[in-house]
Amino acid sequence: MIHNWESRFSENIKVYGGYSIGKLFDLLKDPEIISLAGGLPSPDMFLAHEMRLVSGRILQENLEKIMQYTAIRGEQTLLDAIVQFLDRDNIKVTDENIVVTSSGQHGLDLLGRLFLNPGDTVLLDRPTFAGAIVAFQMQRPEFAGVDIEDDGSDVAGFRSKIETLEREGRKPKFIYVIPDFQNPSGITMSLEKRKALLDLSRDHDIPIVEDSPYRDFRYYGETIPSIYSLDQQQGGGNVIGLYTFSKLFCPGLRVGFNIGPPEVIAKLTNIKEGNVLNTPKYNQDMCAAFLTEMGMEEHILKCRNYYREKLDVFLGTMSEYFPEEMGVTWTKPDGGLFLWVTLPEGIDTHELFYEAVKYKVAFVPGDVFFGENPKRNTMRINFSFASKEQLEEAVKRLSDCVGNQLSSSRGN
Ligand SMILES: Cc1ncc(COP(=O)(O)O)c(C=O)c1O
Repeated sequence: MIHNWESRFSENIKVYGGYSIGKLFDLLKDPEIISLAGGLPSPDMFLAHEMRLVSGRILQENLEKIMQYTAIRGEQTLLDAIVQFLDRDNIKVTDENIVVTSSGQHGLDLLGRLFLNPGDTVLLDRPTFAGAIVAFQMQRPEFAGVDIEDDGSDVAGFRSKIETLEREGRKPKFIYVIPDFQNPSGITMSLEKRKALLDLSRDHDIPIVEDSPYRDFRYYGETIPSIYSLDQQQGGGNVIGLYTFSKLFCPGLRVGFNIGPPEVIAKLTNIKEGNVLNTPKYNQDMCAAFLTEMGMEEHILKCRNYYREKLDVFLGTMSEYFPEEMGVTWTKPDGGLFLWVTLPEGIDTHELFYEAVKYKVAFVPGDVFFGENPKRNTMRINFSFASKEQLEEAVKRLSDCVGNQLSSSRGN
């Protein structure tokens, strides 16, 4: 019997703890708790009827192929549908620019494996998507973060960070951003900043990873061109795009795709060969059908209206229950599934989380969204999953909980 397993773990994994918030989510089993914590799309928006129809048909017609190993890069029908899906967003790709992934998280993992050696630097926003931090952490990089601004990444801040790092001989391997309705803040990057970020990428020869799970979930304002499409207008080659069907269609199938220069995609496909091999054909066929025959554009409009109403209810209730004197501020997103709340300095939302559970409401403590030096007085709120009535009730509970915490911290 082996006694000391840990001494045998690889250097990368010895120090790796996975998702720290997993333990917190275990506390949310009580059905009375209204959770604003997960990043779940609403099942009300699942295309249940269409999915059942397509599922029955493809299993009837094609079971032998569906249950077989399939191409590593992806099913041809899905690759074709992805080319069209991106074309409607002004992104021109061919098969050699695409690798189908088994979810956005998988796409992030592949990128981490491709680019990062221990000690390499990744440049990112503060805050940024916790799942990206967790995926990249597996390669033991260092994170250099710059506080995000109301109109997206602080590109000037990125530039001076790069200059400082370059003086220390630490050129970042890539810049990771979520320009549309960022998870966790809900913030969208302005067109000017997208262009400036591309200039920065060119000036310093550092690729951009553009993660776009929420791009179609715009509830207010005009669509802003993706960084990938802007790059293509100038010859391309500086951006890798990361997509998932998890939010737009459903998370259960675990399908996404990465796009980029052929040599990057070829390597990502090699890595995929060594980890999941192929993404299940059934899941890919369902996603291809979503793109081509389930009324996607109509579905997107429906989602926009449905989530916009929830966002409005949430923001309206926040204004009512968090008067200015409480010193609590929050972002007002134009789309996506999240917003970001900042509490007065001194409140640690990790501690507050346990209090909030007593008030039967939950959020994600903000510290997990920082690659380094977390801001502990912050939290991420998801407004897509709970019903409108639950959202109102959740805000009231949160206000009671935070109010209580504030008065006890002021009393001390
Ligand atoms: C910015 C971002 N990237 C990637 C993902 C991962 O997507 P998936 O659920 O397909 O793994 C998410 C999911 O919340 C996300 O918000």
